[in-house]
Amino acid sequence: MTIKTSTGFIGLGLMGGPMAANVALAGFPLTVWNRTPAKAERLRGLGARVARSAAEVGSVSEVLISMVSDDDALEDLIFGAGGVAEAMRPGNVIIDMSTTSPSCMTQVAARLADKGIHLVDSPVFGSTEPALSGDLWAVVGASPEDLARVRPQLDAMCATVFEMGPVGAGSAMKVAGNLVVTGMIALLAESLTLGRSGGLDPSAMLEVLDAIDFTSPLWKGKGSLVVAEDYAPRFPLRHALKDLRLALAVSVAAGLDLRAVAGVEQDFVAAARAGHQDEDVMAVVHAVRATAQADDPLGRDGTTCAPVVNLTKDA
Ligand SMILES: NC(=O)c1ccc[n+]([C@@H]2O[C@H](COP(=O)([O-])OP(=O)(O)OC[C@H]3O[C@@H](n4cnc5c(N)ncnc54)[C@H](OP(=O)(O)O)[C@@H]3O)[C@@H](O)[C@H]2O)c1
Repeated sequence: MTIKTSTGFIGLGLMGGPMAANVALAGFPLTVWNRTPAKAERLRGLGARVARSAAEVGSVSEVLISMVSDDDALEDLIFGAGGVAEAMRPGNVIIDMSTTSPSCMTQVAARLADKGIHLVDSPVFGSTEPALSGDLWAVVGASPEDLARVRPQLDAMCATVFEMGPVGAGSAMKVAGNLVVTGMIALLAESLTLGRSGGLDPSAMLEVLDAIDFTSPLWKGKGSLVVAEDYAPRFPLRHALKDLRLALAVSVAAGLDLRAVAGVEQDFVAAARAGHQDEDVMAVVHAVRATAQADDPLGRDGTTCAPVVNLTKDA
């Protein structure tokens, strides 16, 4: 029997909890820690050792997986007081699976390299259900050697592993991909709200969206939450807003003006300000409904035709 690599897991939230469970079920000797200790208890039942601190996980893990909220949380966890970088040994590897900025990944990798610790930048697509079934899609930025070393852990959590390039490329893909996802969610919210204003049944709308040639599993997956008015968090809205801001920051740094994403961000800001930040991302529909009820500054109240703008050359 092959002895599996000692593995640590930090960040046992909505995603990290089930992901760590799959690492334990795959037979890795697992040590876990979470800032809020109660979330670690389920892992104990699966044979994981629950550490008293993040540093303790670092000191016993050859491979350490992190799944925390954002750039600040990750930097705090690795380099803050009692952080894991001080406790890990040269040659050890951190797989960060959180959604963070590409620049955070390259900076963290450079600081870790000074200590001889390797970083694999591996955010994931897929929400709580694929996290539970071990069917996530990882987008990896790492050297081929580092990726080969952590492939067994990734395979325990993911259905597919995409190699995107060096550290930073995984996060660049994740940020660009989540721009599509959040845009689709905002448009779905608008489409269902528009349909409802015209007397359409949202369930019937989802049947149509699910059948026609631009279908996506997202229409029914997220649309059915609107039908049921069920906004329990799977992908918390505050993380979607964070991801939109990552996309905006990357676009500004690249000198790009992404106007659609700026509009989508406003919907998410409004939903967060209205108190929906800890609910599922689909709760953005509340912000869309609120704008539908507000006075329309452009006078598009549905009773008059919009002015026709002639775009032909000789107009
Ligand atoms: N949910 C999804 O569908 C989904 C899908 C793909 C990617 N993601 C990304 O995956 C990451 C985690 O998402 P999630 O949905 O699992 O979020 P979550 O439930 O909010 O979990 C966040 C985790 O980070 C920990 N954390 C936050 N700040 C910390 C700090 N300063 N030090 C140590 N630990 C800290 C939290 O600890 P506490 O328990 O103490 O708060 C918790 O374990 C995010 O980057 C998110 O954007 C989420």
